Amino acid sequence: MYYPDDLVEDIRSRNDIVDVISGYVRIQKKGASYFGLCPFHNEKSPSFSVSSVKQMYYCFGCGAGGNVYSFLMNYENYSFPEAVKVLAERAGVALPEIEYNEEQKKTASLKATLLEINKEAAKYYYYCLRSPNGKQGMDYFEKRQLSEETRKQFGLGYANKTSNDLVLYLRSKGYRDEHIIQAGLASQNEKYGVHDKFWNRVMFPIQDSNHRVIGFGGRVMGEGEPKYLNSPETPIFDKSRNLYGLNFARSSRKENIILCEGYMDVIAMHQAGFNQAVASLGTAFTSGQANLLRRFTQTVILAYDSDGAGTKAALRAIGILREVGLTAKVLSMVPYKDPDEFMKALGPEEFQKRIDNAKNSFLFEIQVLEREYDLSDPESKTKFHKEIARRLCEFSEEVERENYIEVIAETYHIGFDSLRKLVQNTAANTGLAKAIEKPKSGIQKKLQPEEGKKKAQRLLITWLSENPALYKQAKAYISPKDFTLELYQKVAEIMFAELEQGHFEPARIVSLFLEEEEQREVAALFNTKLEKLSTSADKEKAFRDILLSVKRISLEHYTAQLGSDVNALNQVIEAKKALLELEKTHILFVE
Ligand code: UTP
Ligand code: MN
Repeated sequence: MYYPDDLVEDIRSRNDIVDVISGYVRIQKKGASYFGLCPFHNEKSPSFSVSSVKQMYYCFGCGAGGNVYSFLMNYENYSFPEAVKVLAERAGVALPEIEYNEEQKKTASLKATLLEINKEAAKYYYYCLRSPNGKQGMDYFEKRQLSEETRKQFGLGYANKTSNDLVLYLRSKGYRDEHIIQAGLASQNEKYGVHDKFWNRVMFPIQDSNHRVIGFGGRVMGEGEPKYLNSPETPIFDKSRNLYGLNFARSSRKENIILCEGYMDVIAMHQAGFNQAVASLGTAFTSGQANLLRRFTQTVILAYDSDGAGTKAALRAIGILREVGLTAKVLSMVPYKDPDEFMKALGPEEFQKRIDNAKNSFLFEIQVLEREYDLSDPESKTKFHKEIARRLCEFSEEVERENYIEVIAETYHIGFDSLRKLVQNTAANTGLAKAIEKPKSGIQKKLQPEEGKKKAQRLLITWLSENPALYKQAKAYISPKDFTLELYQKVAEIMFAELEQGHFEPARIVSLFLEEEEQREVAALFNTKLEKLSTSADKEKAFRDILLSVKRISLEHYTAQLGSDVNALNQVIEAKKALLELEKTHILFVE
């Protein structure tokens, strides 16, 4: 960490989370917390909560959560030091400059320089497009029917035919060749010296989700290879973690994000009003990009080219989206090749219909699979059905699997019962799901106990954070060691120590974790939904039950480790004693 913990905490405490978030999201007081529409996923009824007491936010819909720093890091895509800087300024706290070590200072200033250079270059290309030399570029955009408004919005430009005018321009602005090359805008060789990477191309600046130019794509105006020349990866340009158009799509407030293949597709879609369109950056879609999308939506509609390559890319993307828990749908552009062509031919209204009819990704996969089989040949047909059954086994939830069986049986004229039986047999044979008679005890059962354990431990932490007075009673039975997950245990250690000293600050604990995923988990720990209980007798019983289950889970956990962990025996003995004690104790509920 670059800044001392105390300073980070001081700045945090001077920035009330309700004030800060109100600047971005409309929130309203409801009970002890504020609620609003979550800015990290699309929803119609508010499940995003901000607690003034805990100084944390948490979304009950998508699980986004953290303190005021995490909010800015997620919403504005700031790094941690950037968030500290912004909040320090907001609160009028002076930051010491010296906290960076030499290495860190160097990278930070290199990145800042590269960003400046990219911005200058974008301005230059933009200017060239509008100067007499840029006529060819302007004609090209006209031909592709991009309006002036669109050209402006996307900052489109033109790189001249001369081979070093950008370098000359950037030098005149005081930038060093070394940096211009590192920004990916120039190369150097013996024959030409330092020369522009892009020339005689129309230019598409690539922006990160905060509108900062991080690279370029340049397109030839006629035939020529490559069609698009892209900036190389640089310290500021990570192709696997950015998406073209996301800077606009993130605030589109549509129910989905449309993922297409190309820059031109994105631009054509935005021009037609589909401002939720994004594309990857000349490389295949990655899980880093899927994670990025997860902050803004639950549903991704794939609008890939309708050729073989596009279908293949769509199948890959479906797998990646599924892995991060997003719903994927596939939009058909047939008979047109891509969104750009489609829009020109049929217009936005027809396109909206295609969005509404986008195909469920599993059904799309089966549809593609079908092409590999000859359904007039019984042997091939059987293989097809078996492959369907194998894939159906992957749904761990019974209802979901049954629903798919139903639709597929109907689409492919297979008897419902026989497909179902085939699925059950496949499951039994491959061990994917258990017992034919009880498909319910399939895959998901394995997960449930683990989830149950976590839930109990989360409940206890949330209870204690909302009723710190209960700590005195709880500590007689529970210690941080009883939290069996590493992250939970870390949080409990800090929390118990703070409660012991009587100054407990959940939001401070969030800052102690650096990774976004960890911060989300920590926020979830403090924000588990508690049942609304009105009488103290109910509360006492509920709290005691939670203590009991956490203790039992701990006992089970350490019993399983008896052979391998030397401390386990102590834990087991202690837990047994505490359980006996707890079973006969009455918890007094104090608020
Ligand atoms: P397309 O060829 O479909 O591009 O490639 P497009 O955006 O539809 O462009 P137009 O309509 O033909 O002008 C899809 C994407 O693949 C990358 C680019 O990101 C492009 O937008 N690509 C393509 C390259 O990086 N280099 C290439 O040579 C071609
Ligand atoms: Mn295309």
